Amino acid sequence: MAKRRKIYEGKAKILYEGPEPGTLIQYFKDDATAFNAEKHGVLQGKGVLNNRISEFIFARLGEIGVPTHFIKRLNMREQLVHALEIVPIEVVVRNIAAGSISKRLGIEEGTPLPRPIVEFYYKDDALGDPMVAEEHIITFGWAFEQEIDDMTHMALRVNDFMNGLFAAIGIRLVDFKLEFGRQYHDDHTHLLLADEISPDSCRLWDMKTGEKLDKDRFRRDLGGEIEAYQEVARRLGVLPSADIRDIAAAQDK
Ligand code: TMP
Repeated sequence: MAKRRKIYEGKAKILYEGPEPGTLIQYFKDDATAFNAEKHGVLQGKGVLNNRISEFIFARLGEIGVPTHFIKRLNMREQLVHALEIVPIEVVVRNIAAGSISKRLGIEEGTPLPRPIVEFYYKDDALGDPMVAEEHIITFGWAFEQEIDDMTHMALRVNDFMNGLFAAIGIRLVDFKLEFGRQYHDDHTHLLLADEISPDSCRLWDMKTGEKLDKDRFRRDLGGEIEAYQEVARRLGVLPSADIRDIAAAQDK
């Protein structure tokens, strides 16, 4: 592969300069981190699975009119995306209590919420991505009020769509995290859904057994992460035909 300019390396992905101005290549790594990177592991084949799962979800969202950064998948680990200015806010949507909301508010994991809850977290590793209110976002200039409204509406649309998508394959969408970025057009900006949607960024529970099919398997030392991600990919109909571990091993030689 020709040497490309690395623009940014995150915990689970790398961004390289794209073939045309305004584009980037998003490379999915096998690395997994949790608790603000205190815990690190390598799950062989995870990047290949997340690339496929995220491609599928972003493509379907694009079809229903949700603007996203996704252009096309390039190969097993990479996709071509629009270059954006990332809004430093993680938007979390919850349908069922789990994880941090259960801890913070003492709500038993698995309790259905009467309506979806949208939360904002400020993206700052050194601070451990603290939860923030709209007031903080506006006061500190992380996003404008209109952008917060747009992100909230898009997040709820994504939630409606994904609830149906996963319910149809026997999976309960507990919660998920989204990121957005700005695209500049002459005198105005426009928000697009960015980053990825995968079992790294969602909580997905099997409807019959309650089995966790997401990154909580890694966070909570349950094991079987790749099998769980493969099961999600298989049910979505996007599992590559060859064994993931063979693909990953061959690519990484
Ligand atoms: P939480 O319960 O830990 O706040 O997580 C809510 C959802 O957001 C869950 O689906 C996992 C996802 N998430 C990320 O994708 N990245 C993160 O850094 C965190 C903390 C959560």
